[in-house]
Amino acid sequence: MSKPKILVAREIFPEMITYLERHFEVEANQQDESWSKSQLIEKLQGKDGAFTTGGDRIDAEVLAACPGLKICANMAVGYNNFDLDAMTAAGVLATNAPDVLTETTADFGFALLMATARRISESEHFLRAGKWTKWSFDMFAGSDVHGSTLGILGMGRIGQGIAKRGAHGFGMKVIYHNRSRLDAALEAECKASYASKEELLRTADHVVLVLPYSPASHHTIGASELAMMKPTATLVNIARGGIVDDAALAVALREKRIAAAGLDVFEGEPKVHPDLLTVPNVVLTPHIASATVPTRLAMAKLAADNLIGFFKENKPLTPLNPAVLATK
Ligand code: DGY
Repeated sequence: MSKPKILVAREIFPEMITYLERHFEVEANQQDESWSKSQLIEKLQGKDGAFTTGGDRIDAEVLAACPGLKICANMAVGYNNFDLDAMTAAGVLATNAPDVLTETTADFGFALLMATARRISESEHFLRAGKWTKWSFDMFAGSDVHGSTLGILGMGRIGQGIAKRGAHGFGMKVIYHNRSRLDAALEAECKASYASKEELLRTADHVVLVLPYSPASHHTIGASELAMMKPTATLVNIARGGIVDDAALAVALREKRIAAAGLDVFEGEPKVHPDLLTVPNVVLTPHIASATVPTRLAMAKLAADNLIGFFKENKPLTPLNPAVLATK
């Protein structure tokens, strides 16, 4: 029997291509070319499945042009690159890669919080530029992390990981806001208490954003939310670009309406709002929260195993629209 045909839309670990080739006829973008939508559509012709990453948009237009497509397996926990309703309507299964990146991403969220509060990037640039000629009492004086109040917007698995790091490791008071409140046992495990969004913004010393992107969460943090925050507060976004109004944030940072921000994700990335590049009190990283070698391997393996499970036994490991399976 011939093997199903799949497209791997971005460069991935070569050993993952070898792994996939045991089960599929694989066309892989190991040159890591940037494909336009029409190129992606062209590459998907005749394919049964796709291994995608967060930058590969699968929407109604792509689905209509690729009627043979049965599954898209995302190598990311976030899936805002998928139009899930359109995929379900077209009978195309969507899978993501949850859990395997939780602790790594929580580590990074905490690292970015520390770097932001303690002005690590700003001070390193100063030193590299040869500007360090003398000690001064307030040189790069930032804000404390230990013992402060940590506000987490979005209390899924990654948010919980950050809460535990803050509460257990740094003696922080943790408050969170989420669509639904955690049960009491989980709140106790995270040492976290529920707060309204407004209370969180007004009282937290450090606000970390870990909520999924959807039209409903677009600009969850804009000018009016930034105005509620303490002038000494820091803001960290490891969620998705578009959750923060980056233009409004750049203004708030320049005018010192909040102390600092740490951003791993951006509206329209890989483009970054030009004003963010010119304010000093922001730490900028290129969407690397899950980027350790073991975690990226585990994410790729989970995406590959979703494809294998689907084509072998109609049993993907982490389906997003499982109703589609019943129709197969
Ligand atoms: C995810 O998995 O959603 C991350 O943002 C990708 O690194």
